[in-house]
Amino acid sequence: MEFSTITSPALHTIKTPALAVGVFESGILSQAADALDQAGQGALRAIVKAEFDATPGLCLALHNVDGIAASRVILLGLGKQEHYNAAMHARAQGALAAYCVRTGLGAAVTTLAAIDTPDATLTARARAAALQVSSAAYQYSATFSTKRPAPKLKTFNLHTSRAQSAYAQAGLREGAAIGAGMALTRELGNLPPNICTPTYLGKTATDLARQFKTLKAEVLDERKITALKMGSFLSVARGSAEPPAFIVLRHTPPAARKGSGKAAPIVLVGKGVTFDSGGISLKPGQAMDEMKFDMCGAASVLGTLRAVAELELPREVIGIIPSCENLPSGTANKPGDVVTSMSGQTIEILNTDAEGRLILCDALTYAERFKPAAVIDIATLTGACVIALGHVNSGLFSRDEALVQGLLEAGKTALDPVWHLPLDDAYQDLLKSNFADIANIGGRPAGSITAACFLSRFTSKYPWAHLDIAGTAWKEGKEKGATGRPVPLLMQYLMDQCA
Ligand code: BES
Ligand code: MN
Ligand code: ZN
Repeated sequence: MEFSTITSPALHTIKTPALAVGVFESGILSQAADALDQAGQGALRAIVKAEFDATPGLCLALHNVDGIAASRVILLGLGKQEHYNAAMHARAQGALAAYCVRTGLGAAVTTLAAIDTPDATLTARARAAALQVSSAAYQYSATFSTKRPAPKLKTFNLHTSRAQSAYAQAGLREGAAIGAGMALTRELGNLPPNICTPTYLGKTATDLARQFKTLKAEVLDERKITALKMGSFLSVARGSAEPPAFIVLRHTPPAARKGSGKAAPIVLVGKGVTFDSGGISLKPGQAMDEMKFDMCGAASVLGTLRAVAELELPREVIGIIPSCENLPSGTANKPGDVVTSMSGQTIEILNTDAEGRLILCDALTYAERFKPAAVIDIATLTGACVIALGHVNSGLFSRDEALVQGLLEAGKTALDPVWHLPLDDAYQDLLKSNFADIANIGGRPAGSITAACFLSRFTSKYPWAHLDIAGTAWKEGKEKGATGRPVPLLMQYLMDQCA
């Protein structure tokens, strides 16, 4: 996909398959729509009056308007003018992108980003526009016998004034990189678990390191994981014949850009369970296929590192991924087993389905060696988080005020929201075990919180935040598929740390 700006002042002379303009409710035309209306002798106003109420997300194509060079003018509904904001803008750009993909258009020009919003800069709007386009153009096709035709949309132009073009271009570049990162995250999530194995995730990291010169990948096999004494991670992995992988993908910014490049690294830890059957504490069969998405935390780390590398962010970022399957077998964990984590703390496994925390805890201990400025783990950790927050917000757990504020703010800016949930010490009591330092479950009440409490026991050496993405990483039902979240949030946070 190619993203660029167009600064030609005369909109009606732009030759393109589709030229998009915004319309507010009550028949209020945006500046660009008004300009086209004048060039087209009132054609836009007439249609708006007759049959376009500008509901947010609405989209109407006007073909061959006299006096306008574009083959189509696309009217985009923006809702009430006084409520117009970044979310409405993104929604309208999404409607345009979906229209272009559905209609098989090769190119489009949008004028929407030029409309001011109270809660986003032009750069942020351009970023959001590019993200919407690349999201709409993503299509899963890896495992169909006949390949579906790829979307034809190849060129997306954003119309701005000459003075503002540089800001828009910066946003488009960011949006394109984040979009490509999300596409990778979605593809890994969508791939079936017999293809997307721990080995496959490791190979993906190695391939990224080959493709981007700032990235270095290291994939530790079972022998090295054993040498590191990751007894908790290994106890989950050994239930499956599929070999585990411990992946470290490191972005070191170009030496030329020092300054903030010298700061301590930010570490992202992603849960990489490529299939979660529950193990001996077997899950019910209903929708168990969706547990192929249990590696979406890992996929979001890989997608984020891809975007970080493409943008050459001036900050060291390290991705850590413990990856394995969780299956029942003669070598699998059993309820009652006590295992010793890399930290030395012993864990009583009361439910083998609480495996995410068992693999993450060793990765969190491993992260200590980087003396990180912050560690953020990303995991499809608990069904309880889906019950608490549904599919809108990801759960955010942290006691570090700066991380909480930074992630909340980044979530708002990126339209990839998180909700701060509690992590009081009082919940830690639920993890008491009669036979080990800690139990791996705390019972049904506050299930997401006790999972976070468990992880917190392994994070005393650095500022830490946990994102539970169980409700936001994929969609179920007819639209079943990975969403690419929370790559936009993580990228916004990282870019904010570099600013
Ligand atoms: N991967 C699941 C969490 C999950 C379940 C995410 C459903 C999305 C939808 C995790 O490994 C798990 O099984 N968690 C258990 C924990 C429980 C045994 C304490 C859960 O949520 O039921
Ligand atoms: Mn599980
Ligand atoms: Zn799981």
